[in-house]
Amino acid sequence: MTGKSHYHIVTFGCQMNESDSERMHGIMEQLGYTAAGSIEDSDVILINTCSVRETAENKVYGLLGRLKKLKEKKPGLVIGVGGCMTQVESTAAHIKKRYPYVNLVFGTGIMHQLPDLLEQAAGNKKTMIICRPPEGVYEGLPVKREDDLKAWVPVMYGCDNFCTYCIVPHVRGRERSRLPEDIFKEVEDLTLAGCREVTLLGQNVNSYGKDFGNGYGFGDLLASLNNVQGLLRIRFMTSHPKDFSLGLIDTIEKNPKVCEHFHIPLQSGSDKILKAMNRGYNRDYYLELISGIRNRIPGAAITTDIMVGFPGEKEADFAATMDMIERVGYDAAYTFIYNKRAGTPAENMADQVPEDEKTRRIGSLIKRQNQISIEKNVEEAGRIHQILVEGPSRADVNMLSGRTRTNKLVIFPGRALKKGDLIDVKIIGGSLTHLKGEESGGNKCPCVGPIAEVQHVHT
Ligand code: SAH
Ligand code: SF4
Ligand code: F3S
Repeated sequence: MTGKSHYHIVTFGCQMNESDSERMHGIMEQLGYTAAGSIEDSDVILINTCSVRETAENKVYGLLGRLKKLKEKKPGLVIGVGGCMTQVESTAAHIKKRYPYVNLVFGTGIMHQLPDLLEQAAGNKKTMIICRPPEGVYEGLPVKREDDLKAWVPVMYGCDNFCTYCIVPHVRGRERSRLPEDIFKEVEDLTLAGCREVTLLGQNVNSYGKDFGNGYGFGDLLASLNNVQGLLRIRFMTSHPKDFSLGLIDTIEKNPKVCEHFHIPLQSGSDKILKAMNRGYNRDYYLELISGIRNRIPGAAITTDIMVGFPGEKEADFAATMDMIERVGYDAAYTFIYNKRAGTPAENMADQVPEDEKTRRIGSLIKRQNQISIEKNVEEAGRIHQILVEGPSRADVNMLSGRTRTNKLVIFPGRALKKGDLIDVKIIGGSLTHLKGEESGGNKCPCVGPIAEVQHVHT
């Protein structure tokens, strides 16, 4: 123990990082720390970083810069930087040099050593850097989750795909799967504690189990979790299109707890660009997969990640991406502007796209995708959806909010309902961000019309 009492964790990046942070919270509380009311009140600040894009890294640097004053005021403050950025040697060294008041830089592969590392780092004058290539899986670490109704459950770590733009395999290491019995036990324990929905996490969940070499795969895991008593919904992400098999669609069809929402990153609609990205599929394959899903799982929602401005992307390639969003009709898309990541093959590819062109392309993409998302949500009017009630709506405490099995947020009036209840709601309208629902009594959600200006921009 360092003798300190309040901690604060700042998390950047994807659900995998959020899930890691829940373990960091668990570790800190087990050590006797309590959550600080604000960053200023903390005795230990841990920053869980993301390196997928430069903007994510700059946010971390901005925060570290601001912490300098706090450290001057509170010399005993312990600052630890963990997560994906720290796995790049030059970045870890840069943090040490530029922000020498950081006590500890710790890699993604050594979270279990955090208690000892914090203790050592607190007494050290110099920044301590402890990183090693991530391997193995963590079991048995304490977890403190933000929500008791829904939980992230990592099923595998790392990635073997090496898409040419992506830093993740470099910072998260090779694919390794948790044992099915450990995952089952975690989900069972969660359910006993009141959890009703789990989202299974991995960079490419469809290759779960390949490292076992015994034929056990993601479909088997889904089928087994479908038997957990008390669990209502199973979600998963992310699905790499190249590994999403027809067999998996069969399993999903047969296991009613698996929800009808699939996040299947497209990245680009151009075969030339997909090849240069090393994605391992082409347009035709992707479209066939989508129609396979739609034919067998009617009403399935499909969301995606799309990138613009990959090196060599010409107007015709971008037009092919725009064409794919028309053909697929995504319920929603996360959109990204390509940016160079040091050490990835795309960094040195010829024909980098000028910034103003990338900005123009993402603007057109977001504009059209937002229209499609609104159309899809407006079309929901008149349908009945099963909703898992999450509690009062943030926008209006007199209304309830919850999600459909297709993962759409619904705001609706509910009389005697409480968090965790399942209820059928009639949809009466939709906007970009959510659906409106009504109880049989006829009460209506007060929010109005499509909110066409809202944009999801990830740069
Ligand atoms: N494993 C997931 C994605 C993880 S990263 C998958 O394969 O789908 C999340 C998203 O960040 C990616 O889908 C991609 O669209 C985006 N991304 C990754 N590297 C990027 C880069 N260098 N520039 C811009 N966007 C990037
Ligand atoms: Fe990155 Fe590709 Fe792996 Fe996703 S599948 S994490 S985009 S390398
Ligand atoms: Fe996730 Fe960012 Fe790391 S997207 S895996 S936190 S680089």
